[in-house]
Amino acid sequence: MRHWTQLGEAPIPGSDRSLILYRGKDDFSIKISNGHELMNTRKHGSEDAVGSLPCQRLKQAGNARVLIGGLGMGFTLAAVLASVGPDAEVTVAELIPEVIEWNRGPLGDFSGRPLDDPRTRVYTGDVAKLMRRSHGCFDVITLDVDNGPEGLTKKANDWLYSMPGIAAAQNALAPGGILAYWSADGDQGFHDRLRCCGLVVEELRVFAHGKKGTRHTIWLASVDGW
Ligand SMILES: C[S@@+](CC[C@H](N)C(=O)[O-])C[C@H]1O[C@@H](n2cnc3c(N)ncnc32)[C@H](O)[C@@H]1O
Repeated sequence: MRHWTQLGEAPIPGSDRSLILYRGKDDFSIKISNGHELMNTRKHGSEDAVGSLPCQRLKQAGNARVLIGGLGMGFTLAAVLASVGPDAEVTVAELIPEVIEWNRGPLGDFSGRPLDDPRTRVYTGDVAKLMRRSHGCFDVITLDVDNGPEGLTKKANDWLYSMPGIAAAQNALAPGGILAYWSADGDQGFHDRLRCCGLVVEELRVFAHGKKGTRHTIWLASVDGW
């Protein structure tokens, strides 16, 4: 039986649940208070991929403007920073202030402390709010705020995967921009909604860790393809 030490707990705005940070022998885990593990430092292959894959498809990644929805353990942020150039600006929107604090502590060592990178901007709040007020700004928007289109963390996140949510994301993209979405599982309805919004869609199955075992789903979508 594994021993976990609880290091912190933070309420999830708009939900009756909280996020809890645990330290194990040589890893960290963030769980929802219903017991569901949201993130573990041992497994981040697909979180890396949802950051690197859209940036690698950009024609000009050197000075890319990127929006990331959900800091989590910082792996997607680190992967984006590794895939763009020195003049890039990467905004990470995180709903829960304590998650940002946790990443500034020992947890941050696992992702290489991407919050300290001078290209990183932190927005504390709902990524949906930031997206709604942004027009033609971002070359990439990459969203990993929940378990996928069927959200576990916060019910209001379902909007991000709805037709109006996809349209708002599209509107926040610069010409030639790319959307990326992470999900634990496939979801044909969401895939179809992306296509109904007029987007060219690529659906990928990416290993959670290493080269075998569990796979997660990533959708890449853009108006003109890549
Ligand atoms: C699964 S984790 C993200 C994992 C991240 N990709 C990584 O590399 O570690 C989801 C994160 O999104 C945050 N979140 C949930 N809903 C959000 C929202 N609407 N806006 C911004 N952040 C949100 C959660 O607090 C959590 O930190």
